[in-house]
Amino acid sequence: MITFNNVSKYYPGKIPGLIDVTVEIPAGEFVFLIGPSGSGKTTFLRLLIRDLVPSKGTITVDSGDISKFNGGNIHLLRRKVGIVFQDFKLLLDRTVFENIAMVLEILGKPERDIEQGVMNVLELVGLADKRNLFPLQLSAGEMQRTSIARAIVGGPKILLADEPTGNLDPETAWGIMDILKEVNDLGTTVIIASHNADIVNKMKKRTLTIHQGAIVRDEAKGHYHLDKHAKPVAKGGKHDANH
Ligand SMILES: Nc1ncnc2c1ncn2[C@@H]1O[C@H](COP(=O)(O)OP(=O)(O)O)[C@@H](O)[C@H]1O
Ligand SMILES: [Mg+2]
Repeated sequence: MITFNNVSKYYPGKIPGLIDVTVEIPAGEFVFLIGPSGSGKTTFLRLLIRDLVPSKGTITVDSGDISKFNGGNIHLLRRKVGIVFQDFKLLLDRTVFENIAMVLEILGKPERDIEQGVMNVLELVGLADKRNLFPLQLSAGEMQRTSIARAIVGGPKILLADEPTGNLDPETAWGIMDILKEVNDLGTTVIIASHNADIVNKMKKRTLTIHQGAIVRDEAKGHYHLDKHAKPVAKGGKHDANH
């Protein structure tokens, strides 16, 4: 379970990133975070990996306050929470296999476990046969599949994706969505910031709409509609049974 409790984030110069966000995301849920550019989606995700700290309020993961993670044990949080980005962030001088294996090397896993762990996630994303290629030898969709494999190889409970299909054509985007759905089916909580109306509408998953830093809609089977006149939802973060 993830909770945001009255979380606000102000950037230097008092620029609001998020304003008084209260929401609960149960373990195993699949959630879309939608909203126009600049509404606070990336801020929400960066707070969850403690790349940013809240200006006010608390965030918990598995009932632990993540502000308690500091320089000494932040790696424990990063092990629980994997993240993928629109621009993949792969190391170009390492192969697909090496990009993914790095995560397990940092965890100090033995070589046999690394080989097995990397091959397992490569099978899941359908890239086992491309393991010895370098990122620039891949299509954009394959690069994103590599970055998903890297994000899940350590077995995180939570996978975050910041506009993961933003650089992809529709068919490739659906391939990525299928993989994220499969990761969720295996028990991982998945939270996706997305601009892709077609995907959000067809997936019919819980959808949180952010507008100017506030959550203005929380629908169980959401669809993509950005409402200029939306008001923040009542505190408590409960979502409609259906819509
Ligand atoms: N590093 C930063 N410094 C100052 N303001 C920022 C920074 N990052 C984001 N913001 C501001 O916070 C607000 C939310 O941004 P962001 O979370 O990136 O939105 P989104 O991901 O929905 O496009 C915007 O007004 C943005 O300009
Ligand atoms: Mg963003």
